[in-house]
Amino acid sequence: MTVISIDPELCTNCEICVEICPMSIILPSKEGGTPYSPEDAATYCAKCGHCEVFCPEGAISTLFDSTYYQLQDDEFPSIPTSEIGKYMVMRRSIRSYKDESVDKSKIEAILDISRYAPSGMNKQPVQWTIVHDPEEVKKITGLSIDWMRDVVASEGEHPLKSLMPGLISTYEMGVDPICRGAPHLVIAHTPAENPTGYTDSIIALSWFELAAQAFEVGTCWAGFLAIAATSYKPLMDELELPQGHVVQYSMMFGYPEHRVNGIPGREPAIVTWK
Ligand SMILES: Cc1cc2nc3c(=O)[nH]c(=O)nc-3n(C[C@H](O)[C@H](O)[C@H](O)COP(=O)(O)O)c2cc1C
Repeated sequence: MTVISIDPELCTNCEICVEICPMSIILPSKEGGTPYSPEDAATYCAKCGHCEVFCPEGAISTLFDSTYYQLQDDEFPSIPTSEIGKYMVMRRSIRSYKDESVDKSKIEAILDISRYAPSGMNKQPVQWTIVHDPEEVKKITGLSIDWMRDVVASEGEHPLKSLMPGLISTYEMGVDPICRGAPHLVIAHTPAENPTGYTDSIIALSWFELAAQAFEVGTCWAGFLAIAATSYKPLMDELELPQGHVVQYSMMFGYPEHRVNGIPGREPAIVTWK
């Protein structure tokens, strides 16, 4: 089955599509005419849509289900480099949240951006569980602490074991050291066997946190929770992921309680030029 259609009336045979197809399934015409995609292309097509978006003539349509959107000339964003840099470096982990819910429509808008994050072979394996109910977030914090209690009580080694008694006593004093009192959680999960599932999830969550900032939503990676959720059965059961899925990583989010007033120092980039 072929996966794209090329309009020979519009095609100028520039062969950009041939050049950029990541799976090399668009071939130059032997007679110097319109490129073509062989019949068995569907088996290999990554459905990345690059042929469609890079074609300068708008000659290519994908035949798979797609939501291609043609940008008009005045729609191309022109963010100055200084601004995009500032936007990215002013992102901070937020650990104090307002007691205010983020509307589901806003979360959907953030996810609608995040779904464009790159993924291995464009497989887009990342699925999301949004814990929107703050009471459920508290329950998940409690289960993460129960996991720590189990680890501390056990004979076994764990790289985070030495931190756990402190976190448990913080929790017992009424402070949430796991989800920091955030009202919501985002959990990225994929089928366990997906070879790029972890990397794809980290990239997608990175997009989530950068996009969230534009909606005045603050985030923080929830590392303890993510680790607990890969091994502690009661927590895994509570999350009710689809069959065969595993938690790849998690993030807390909500409206920040405090404004970020500056940009902290960071190590200089260590670069080797060759
Ligand atoms: C993989 C990962 C796990 C993290 N886990 C936690 C966590 O469990 N709790 C927390 O408060 N911060 C967590 N953080 C946030 C880091 O502490 C934070 O990114 C770092 O201190 C730098 O601060 P910044 O994000 O404001 O630049 C995590 C960050 C990453 C990347």
